[in-house]
Amino acid sequence: MDLQPVLDDIVATLEPQLGAGKVASYIPALASVSPRRLGIALRTREGAEYRAGDANTPFSIQSVSKLFTLTLAMRHLGDTLWERIGREPSGNPFNSLVQLESEQGVPRNPFINAGAIAVADRLVSCCDSARADILALLSSLSGETIVFDEEVAASEASSGFRNIALANFMKSFGKLDNDVAQVLDFYFHQCSVAMSCVQLARAAAYLCSDGRHPLTGEAVVTERQARRINALMLTCGTYDAAGEFAFRIGLPCKSGVGGGIVAVLPDTLSLCVWSPGLDETGNSLLGMKALELFVARTGLSVF
Ligand code: DON
Repeated sequence: MDLQPVLDDIVATLEPQLGAGKVASYIPALASVSPRRLGIALRTREGAEYRAGDANTPFSIQSVSKLFTLTLAMRHLGDTLWERIGREPSGNPFNSLVQLESEQGVPRNPFINAGAIAVADRLVSCCDSARADILALLSSLSGETIVFDEEVAASEASSGFRNIALANFMKSFGKLDNDVAQVLDFYFHQCSVAMSCVQLARAAAYLCSDGRHPLTGEAVVTERQARRINALMLTCGTYDAAGEFAFRIGLPCKSGVGGGIVAVLPDTLSLCVWSPGLDETGNSLLGMKALELFVARTGLSVF
């Protein structure tokens, strides 16, 4: 199937809706991004790449970074990672505090903010420099130099009251080993990474090729770990919209409040869509529609 006309047609179909949704404003540095952007990029398991719209424009990857910190943590820690983090959908917003109290500071999954902060804590413990390691992983996977956006990181640090509360809460249960400030510094930086749809579609390619690096073929994670990351994306990657995503799209997805969504069809392709306008669950409104159109037009889905 020629996928280029499919991507072009998705962008053209959604053009009249550009500007729909609300750009995340609780992180001040994100509020100034134009909502009238839409990009889509795809990479097949064989390495063919396709792009349409604003596919080359870097954007704030935000929670999409949680996919890659989880990958790094699974690589370093294996199954011991799961001693402090669950694998169940939370059914709550990504920044909710409510379950942490009744569940003694153990986050439901690694993709809600509390879970990603717990992963960040483990990485701060086991890496010489967690910051350098996440950039090295992203740069290696995408084949290009990837950097933090220091303005976004500083903006998050100055407005991240909920994340500060989540981290302190987990610390009070003895579930964080490192200083809260150090863990959050890493967490805010991982969220601030800027990447384009093309770079992210490539970076996620190991998830559609049994854990193998898209450019070198080396193991990024084991086949079993890649399967498990995909399972977590499907069940938890889009927070309390995960059921709706599975119903309407049927692909493992990971979203971020910058408006990016990475999706994977195991053994076949990885793709990334970006449009900054969000729905009330914090997922990209047009990004979700673009994925829905992609599945409808190609029939490519895990179901
Ligand atoms: O911690 C936060 O709230 C943001 N840095 C990331 C949240 C996010 O992207 C959730 N995704 N939809």
